[in-house]
Amino acid sequence: MDKFIIRGGKPLKGRVKVEGSKNAALPIIIGSLLIEKGETVIRNVPPLRDISTVIDVISHLGASVTYDEQACVMTVDARGVNKNTAPYELMRQMRASFLVLGPILSRLGEARVSLPGGCVLGSRPVDFHIKAFEAMGAKISEKGGYVIARAKPLKGGSIYFDRPSHTGTENVLFGAVFAKEKTVIANAACDPEIVDVANFLNKAGAKIHGAGTPTIVVHPVKRLKNVDYTVAGDRLVAGTFMFAAAVTGGNVRLTGIDPDELTMVNHKLMEMGCSITTTKNGLTIRGNKKLKPVSVTTFPYPGFPTDLQACLMGAACTAAGTSYIRETVFIDRFSHTMELRRLGADITVSSGEAIVHGVKELQGAEVMASDIRAGAGIVVACLAARGKSEVLRVYHVDRGYYRLEEKLSSLGADIVRVND
Ligand code: EPU
Repeated sequence: MDKFIIRGGKPLKGRVKVEGSKNAALPIIIGSLLIEKGETVIRNVPPLRDISTVIDVISHLGASVTYDEQACVMTVDARGVNKNTAPYELMRQMRASFLVLGPILSRLGEARVSLPGGCVLGSRPVDFHIKAFEAMGAKISEKGGYVIARAKPLKGGSIYFDRPSHTGTENVLFGAVFAKEKTVIANAACDPEIVDVANFLNKAGAKIHGAGTPTIVVHPVKRLKNVDYTVAGDRLVAGTFMFAAAVTGGNVRLTGIDPDELTMVNHKLMEMGCSITTTKNGLTIRGNKKLKPVSVTTFPYPGFPTDLQACLMGAACTAAGTSYIRETVFIDRFSHTMELRRLGADITVSSGEAIVHGVKELQGAEVMASDIRAGAGIVVACLAARGKSEVLRVYHVDRGYYRLEEKLSSLGADIVRVND
């Protein structure tokens, strides 16, 4: 198993081109299952573990896939899709695989998709997805850990999410594209990745209006055509580099992203004393020798992203005062706090809120990544810590970040990957 060895305290300086967004690429690749004719080309697909997993999933269902990792270009030919079962063996590796429910149900009239199972972010149910497909006319049952959905075809209709669900919204889009009638999604998630998915489907001939707002309307079409589409840059990777630059007092230019997707993150980093200048496809962040404390509540987009909560906490550990971090999206998403404490952080967590009393400095230690974003937050803290840290289980980080250590060391960080 790989680990990172980090000797902290080096200010990050330089320029990084941010890779394509994992959370946009995954649903776009799965969405290409809806295209029955020809080969779909998807560009800017980051070479990550989760991308390999989704290739396995859609290949299992009968799609032919090529992937040039060097060029980040994938092709998907979904003509041969003929299996309706997504097995547990594949599903348990990545929760996002549940997104195949929509395309398989639309294409084959029946889908058998394994329930994703437990997750370190706490209980992550799929009841919103199921309720939405039922509202669209699907007959749904559960047997032996599988959700079995039947609809020939889906009717469409009016969907309401009790709270905005990111992949729930995407799954409904997939089901709605070929439904009999119009579908209206109320309280839809507004994340930029959903806009990317809608842009992809619309380029292929779908009629989706309102993506990026809480009300999305989908007018059904008969078929989609193959397209050539480029995935947007990853705002969460960009945000991670921003916190790393902030906590090390660095000066980093990020390109390949839309800075408007990071507005809330920019506000919080400026409150912490950083300066940020934006351009059309990027931004520059200058950190501060001593960051100020901050109060943050995570919230669905455009609120502060839960996926950057750990990175913000990593930076708040050495701020000049007390920070308050409330998690409202995944209330148990605090596994990184135990590891940050091993570095000397002073954090207490109670009822979905972390109170972080800034300490003078963190000290290097052996720490462990428990999920993608927790791992990123721990790396951010280790970059600031005095002395040597070892970050174990970086395979979690590799699910969402492409060669994080190489990019960080190109900015001057002292970080290496070691195979244990
Ligand atoms: N929820 C339900 N029932 C459902 C679905 C969601 O109760 O059927 C709850 C969840 O438990 C959570 C909230 O609704 O409390 C929002 O969850 P959401 O459905 O939006 O999350 P998701 O779609 O499963 C995606 C990202 C996550 C990201 C969240 C929040 C992908 C592949 N995953 O998950 O990304 O944290 O949205 O923005 O897009 C990551 O990249 O590391 C990651 C975990």
